[in-house]
Amino acid sequence: MISVAIDGPSGAGKSTLAKRLAKELGYVYVDTGAMFRAIGLYTLRQGKQPSDAQAVQELLPQITLTLASIDGAQHIYLNGEDVSTEIRQEQVGMAASAVGANPAVRSFLLDQQRALATSQNILMDGRDIGTVVLPNATVKIYLTASAEARAQRRLLELEQKGQKADFETVLADIQQRDYQDMNRETAPLRQADDAILLDTSELDFEQSFEQMKQIILTHIQ
Ligand code: DC
Repeated sequence: MISVAIDGPSGAGKSTLAKRLAKELGYVYVDTGAMFRAIGLYTLRQGKQPSDAQAVQELLPQITLTLASIDGAQHIYLNGEDVSTEIRQEQVGMAASAVGANPAVRSFLLDQQRALATSQNILMDGRDIGTVVLPNATVKIYLTASAEARAQRRLLELEQKGQKADFETVLADIQQRDYQDMNRETAPLRQADDAILLDTSELDFEQSFEQMKQIILTHIQ
């Protein structure tokens, strides 16, 4: 089985690029961030603090996550409910980042993530895919862009959705998420030693897509 591990900070374009690549290559796309987001959402719904490790750990036995691929798009079900849209909210992303620092949450998801790679060719994106989840992945890519470039793209996305935001706030959120994801003790975000670095600060979507595709094609031959 071929596995492509894609890691990098929030807003680097991992999921948009991975989705399109999965379609082109005929692989299944697995967005591991959605799993952390679903746990973040459940925690918020239960009125608990995502940073309260003990409280979140106690919630885990109540949570069943299921992934399904529908027309090439990943859907995630939290105890049977499709929460794919709801988990995209900004505060759920922050909650996901907080629960992601919790070792109990990471080990709860690890086996599930690894199992997904055993029976199908996949592109999996996250923060620790190349370092922890799939250390033997066929190809590892570390996709990044400057915080400013990512904030600019995010701002544009929000504007297109008709949501108001200002650059400084979006940038501060991105920097906070980077800090949390890179400085946690368990499975922090970092480039695996054998990952290929792709910085898209100066690239548009098509250029990023072509470069990633080339990296993958070169490695699977
Ligand atoms: O990729 P994303 O923005 O949907 O991820 C949301 C948060 O989930 C991210 O800030 C950190 C956490 N996460 C993680 O810790 N490990 C992963 N493999 C994926 C996401």
